[in-house]
Amino acid sequence: MNSKILDKKELRNIPEEFLNKIIEESKKENQEIYLKLEKKDFNEKSKEFKEYKKVIRKKLRTLYGVFQNQQLNETKRKKYLEILRKETKEEKNILEKILKSHLSTKERITYFNRVYSKIIEICGKPKKIADLACGFNPFSYFYWNLNLEYLASDISEIDLDFIQKFFASQNIKGNTTSGDLTNENFQSKIIKKIRDYDTCLLFKALDSLEYLKKGSSTKLLLKIPCKNIIISFPSKTISGKNVIKGKRHWFLEALKQKNSEGWEIHEFEIGPEIYYLLKKPQTVLSNNSKKT
Ligand SMILES: C[S@@+](CC[C@H](N)C(=O)[O-])C[C@H]1O[C@@H](n2cnc3c(N)ncnc32)[C@H](O)[C@@H]1O
Repeated sequence: MNSKILDKKELRNIPEEFLNKIIEESKKENQEIYLKLEKKDFNEKSKEFKEYKKVIRKKLRTLYGVFQNQQLNETKRKKYLEILRKETKEEKNILEKILKSHLSTKERITYFNRVYSKIIEICGKPKKIADLACGFNPFSYFYWNLNLEYLASDISEIDLDFIQKFFASQNIKGNTTSGDLTNENFQSKIIKKIRDYDTCLLFKALDSLEYLKKGSSTKLLLKIPCKNIIISFPSKTISGKNVIKGKRHWFLEALKQKNSEGWEIHEFEIGPEIYYLLKKPQTVLSNNSKKT
C-alpha cells in the first residue's frame, strides 16, 4: 500500500514507522474514502485511490516537511558534504541548497537572521542548543554567528546522519540522537541528555507529535529542562492562507501552566511562522505574558 501511494524515490528518506503511523491516522480521519477504497481492492485507477493519495501526501508535506521534487538523494548529500569539507567559497551556496530542500527551512531561509536575533534579544546568547524534531534546521547553524554546542534530534536517522557529517565537516561541537518523540521512554532519554542545555528549539514540531499521539507534545513540553524554549507553528498554510488560531487548545493549556509557574511567554510572528518563546524566571517569579 505504501509503495502504491508514494514511489520509491519519495519514500527513500521517510522512516517507515512514521509513514505507517500517518497512514493509520489518515485511515481514521478519512474513513469513508478508505472503506470505499478497500471495497475496490485499492485499485490504483479509482477516484478514491487518487483522493487518498492526495490526503497522505499533504500530511507528509506538513508533518515531515517532505518536498518531493527537491529531496536530496544519497549522491547529492555525499557531493555536498565533500564540498563542505573543503572549505571553499561554495559553502554558503551549498548550505542554502540544503536548507531549501526541506519545506520548513526553505520557508524560513530569508528570516533566520531575524528569528535568531530576536531570540538573542530576549534570552541572551545561547551556548547549548537542543533542536528537537529538527528536520534540516541544524544546517542554519551559521546564522547564529555563535560558537554553539548543538544537539539535533529527529525520527529520521538518514537526516541525522547527514547532519552529524555536516557537524564534523565544520568542526561543530554537535551531536545527534534519533528517536520517536511521542514515545515516553525516548522523551525521558532526550530530557536526560539536554539537562545542561540552555535553549531548546521546537520549530514546527509539536503539531506533528500531537497528530501522531495526542497529549505527547504537552508531556514533552512540560518536561523540557532548558531555561529557554522556543516553539513555532506555521501561521499560514502552504497556499498562503492564514491558519485559524485557537485550534490548539492543548498548547494554550500548556502555556497557561508554564505561565502559572512563572515563565515569561513572548509571542512574535516572523515570516510565515508564529513563535512562542518561553523563558524561565531566574530569581523573581513574574506572571508576565508579553507580546514583543
Ligand atoms: C514540519 S518538520 C519541521 C522540521 C524543523 N523543526 C524545522 O522547522 O525546520 C517536522 C519534523 O518532525 C520530525 N518528526 C515527526 N514526527 C516525529 C516524531 N514522532 N519524533 C521525532 N521527530 C519527528 C520529522 O521527521 C520532521 O523533521
